[in-house]
Order: sequence, then C-alpha cells, then structure tokens
Amino acid sequence: MTDIYTLQQELADASPRAILKAALARYDNIAISFSGAEDVALIELAHKLTDNLKVFTLDTGRLHPETYEFIDRVREHYNIDIEVMFPDADEVADLVSRKGMFSFYQDGHKECCGIRKVNPLRRKLATLDAWITGQRKDQSPDTRNDVPVVQIDEAFSTSDKTLVKFNPLAHWTSKEVWDYIRMSEAPYNKLHEQGFISIGCQPCTRPVLPGQHEREGRWWWEEATKKECGLHSDNIIAKD
Ligand code: ADX
Ligand code: SF4
Repeated sequence: MTDIYTLQQELADASPRAILKAALARYDNIAISFSGAEDVALIELAHKLTDNLKVFTLDTGRLHPETYEFIDRVREHYNIDIEVMFPDADEVADLVSRKGMFSFYQDGHKECCGIRKVNPLRRKLATLDAWITGQRKDQSPDTRNDVPVVQIDEAFSTSDKTLVKFNPLAHWTSKEVWDYIRMSEAPYNKLHEQGFISIGCQPCTRPVLPGQHEREGRWWWEEATKKECGLHSDNIIAKD
C-alpha cells in the first residue's frame, strides 16, 4: 500500500471527488465526520460513490435547534444512518455542577470542548482506520492554512494504530462549497439564511457582519490562534 506521504503528493491537486474516491477505495473502515453545516457537501459527493457510506456526528448537547433539524433532514434526504456520539453524562454533570453552563466565557472553551466533543470523538475514532472531515484552508487563516488533503492524524493516532485523516475540501473556498451545494440542490442548515457561516455550538457561534471572516463568528471572545476546539488540534501541533 502506498504510504501516506506518497498519497499526499498523488492527491495534492486532485478534486474533492477524486480524493473521496481514493479514500473510500483504500479504507473500508472509514467515516465522514459531519458537523451539521456546509460539510454536507462531503455527503453529497460521497453518497454517489458508495452504498456503504458511514457518517457520524458529535452531539454536544449545545447545538442549535436548526442544526438538529438539519441533521435529520440529511438523514432522510440521503436515506443514510447518521451515528450520533454523545458526551459522557458523568463528565458533563461534573463540569456543570462545578462551573455552571457557561464556564467557557470565563476560562476558555477547552475544558467544555474536551468533554463534549473531543472525548466522544476519541471514542469513535478508536473504532476507525481513517476519517473524513470538511476542513478547508480558507476556514481559518490562523490555524488551517496548511491543511493537507490527507494526513496522519497526529492528535488521535495511538501506539497501537496510525489513524489517517482525509480533508477532501481542503483546497475548496467557501464559495466553491456553496456553488456545489446549490448546483446539486443539497439540503442546508437554515442558520445559513440568518448570517451564520461557520456553525458550531449555539453559545459559541454567532453570525458575522459583512466583511468579517467566518471564523470570527466562533469563540469570538478568544484569540484567533486558539480557535481550534481539539477535533483538529493537529493543526496546532503542526505549527509548533
Ligand atoms: S471545529 O473544530 O471548529 O468545531 P469546524 O466547525 O470548522 O470544526 O468543522 C470542521 C470539520 O470538523 C467539519 O467539517 C467536520 O468534519 C468536523 N466537525 C466539526 N464539528 C463537528 C461535530 N459536531 N460533529 C462531527 N464532526 C464535526
Ligand atoms: Fe462547549 Fe462551546 Fe465547545 Fe460547544 S463549542 S463544546 S458549548 S465550549
């Protein structure tokens, strides 16, 4: 099997569809990590390539009602199962009893994201050989400029297993993603009609003003270079 660095070179200029095709051909045990936002473009592309599409989402318990509604719409539209990963109830109960429901505004999002997103993701990734994300370079100039189309996931690989991460949309701009969503008449999250561009949890996401970068709508009270919640902390590891 070609190693990941060779594959990286082979796929460096490939289209999102070709990257997905290569990913699905190489790994059976692979799944799309779907956030409930414009990364629906991945599902639209991939459902035409396989009948065995695996998709999961991380329900932090703090998503917008529109996002829950959208996740179900995607399930119905593509006639697929979407596995929903939940945080550990005891960990959440411990956090909110000690610090309340909005501790992230005081001491940063890391602890809450760790419990509500990263730990459930780690549990899911332990069952996979590879995963597919909707990360793009243009999503965050401070942390995602160097996102490759395929990489070894340095954050979630273990001593027992090298985990591979595909980012088929890495080179697409937001406009290209949206042109594709419109052209293929894919469903989209209604929040996008209200000025939201990048969508995460309800208390940590807000619409942006004209001219603002989409990332400014996420964790706006924190420094731009810290705006990774831990799902993609390899973007920060890679920069150190
Ligand atoms: S985040 O790390 O800042 O929250 P972002 O919202 O930019 O990530 O999304 C980038 C990619 O991370 C998504 O396309 C998706 O693959 C994955 N992702 C983000 N949030 C979730 C989620 N709640 N469930 C599953 N995957 C997610
Ligand atoms: Fe918690 Fe906000 Fe992170 Fe969601 S984005 S897990 S609410 S800190």
